[in-house]
Amino acid sequence: MKQHIEVLLQAAVDELKTQGILSADVTPRIQLDRPRDKSHGDFASNLAMMLAKPAKKNPRELAQAIIDALPANDVIAKCDIAGPGFINISVNHQRIIDQLEAAWQDENLGVSASGESQTIVIDYSSPNLAKEMHVGHLRSTIIGDAIARTLELQGHTVVRQNHVGDWGTQFGMLLAHMEDVQKESTDVALQLSDLETFYKAAKKRFDAEPEFADRARSLVVKLQGGDDYCLSLWRQFIDISLAHCQEVYDRLGVKLTRDDVMAESAYNDELHGIVKLLRDSGLLVEDQGAQCVFLDEFKGKEGEPLPIIVQKKDGGFLYATTDLAAVRYRAEKLHADRAIYVVDARQALHFNQIFTLARKAKLAPESLSLEHMGFGVVLGKDNKPFKSRDGGVTKLADLLTEAERRALALVASKNSDFSADEQAHIASVVGIASVKYADLSKNRTSDYVFDWDTMLSFDGNTAPYLLYAFTRVSSVFQKAGVDMHSLQGAIRLDNEQDTNLANKLAQFPEIITSVANKGMPHFLCGYLFELAGAFSSFYEACPILNADDEATKQSRLKLAALTARTLEQGLTLLGIPTLKRM
Ligand code: ARG
Repeated sequence: MKQHIEVLLQAAVDELKTQGILSADVTPRIQLDRPRDKSHGDFASNLAMMLAKPAKKNPRELAQAIIDALPANDVIAKCDIAGPGFINISVNHQRIIDQLEAAWQDENLGVSASGESQTIVIDYSSPNLAKEMHVGHLRSTIIGDAIARTLELQGHTVVRQNHVGDWGTQFGMLLAHMEDVQKESTDVALQLSDLETFYKAAKKRFDAEPEFADRARSLVVKLQGGDDYCLSLWRQFIDISLAHCQEVYDRLGVKLTRDDVMAESAYNDELHGIVKLLRDSGLLVEDQGAQCVFLDEFKGKEGEPLPIIVQKKDGGFLYATTDLAAVRYRAEKLHADRAIYVVDARQALHFNQIFTLARKAKLAPESLSLEHMGFGVVLGKDNKPFKSRDGGVTKLADLLTEAERRALALVASKNSDFSADEQAHIASVVGIASVKYADLSKNRTSDYVFDWDTMLSFDGNTAPYLLYAFTRVSSVFQKAGVDMHSLQGAIRLDNEQDTNLANKLAQFPEIITSVANKGMPHFLCGYLFELAGAFSSFYEACPILNADDEATKQSRLKLAALTARTLEQGLTLLGIPTLKRM
């Protein structure tokens, strides 16, 4: 619908060009907004205001000329000019109904790929395996997953890449410690069941025992030289660490599996070639023994050139080298049209440099869109980076357990007739959903404060509110004893509340498009919250089971069923399962 109206506005602009009212070289970006205030119509455009100045016209007069030049159509019911020259557009109700009837028939609710289906690589989660996943990995993991699911719904081929860090120098000390633990014939697997503690123990020895530190360093050299014994120790460690990650993914309801792991080490054999290619392209400079690239685009605060180091003096490769190899792999082997990186915003400079260099070195064709979708930091109530009670980093697994515990207390406090098993299930869904939703509903690019009380609240834009809203809509069908999927009647719009709800429902595909293009799951959260609100008002004003006549009842049931399906689809995209009762 939105697209359709944009096309109509474009046609009006073209018409005004033919008439000589607008000059032939103006090419405005036509943008429609959904006004908050319903009295401003369904869509609003500032097109006339944008064009007025270059056309030397009064914006309100130009708005009228645009309206007059719109081609005949049955989408727009009415146009008004408001304020300094906004064009407010009301849509023909019948067209909204047609769209919803079509969505009803479609298992994807009318969501389809805008344009061609693409191959889209999405790099997300990507923790370092030396330690256990902590709260800092939450955002990449769940934001990435929501974007991936959204792109899939649109019909794109999505390739998940979990670019785990498994090859840093820290592995030296971990292997040295493993060696000793094994010698004492303690159960290594058992010790590694708590990676965080294992890492701390290794680090402590590394800092305190020179002999241990030396051994750690030589183990890294051996490992990187392909020594069998070191590799087998390392594999054992990586395997256990990945199993920890998988446990967290499964609890979070994130779709990542072992098959999506494309570790840093997988690029090892490419790295010499990358350095050679940079040298052959004349981009490489030796600086204090290290191999670097200096790009004019990147300067420090004092205007000093900033290097991208690709090989250290001792021959070792770096994070950037691996990322250059990964860009090439994504372009050449995966044939990506888009490569999305859901990584902490503090790595913006790194990705900027990698993307610019990758293009210069022809590792990525112009046609491949490289997109860093950065995110902000999770803060504690003190506005400092979120810490556990003892001041350390919070393991993600512990955070999720705490969420379930708090949710269970909440569920148990609402005296209900749920069995203990049912309570535990509800608590687990609500707990995890609350943590995820609190994060996904914030603008990805900002920092946010992690707050148990608000995320577990039934009021406001929260998971409990939405999950509860879903059970309310579903209960209509239970009460009526009607199967949601077998409804036959047609949608009719009789009053303000049902029209409002219908309008909201019709907006779903637009929201999906903007989430997919911009990688902003919070658009979807905000939408679901508004949809639930529109349903509440509708439910209060429009009796469903006691409607005046059968046709009205059927229409209202269908609107309710579409609401349930849209809420469920939306929550599924966020990786949140629904509950039948809570
Ligand atoms: N392992 C990195 C970290 O924890 C994130 C990797 C992101 N992906 C990438 N291709 N660099 O900071």
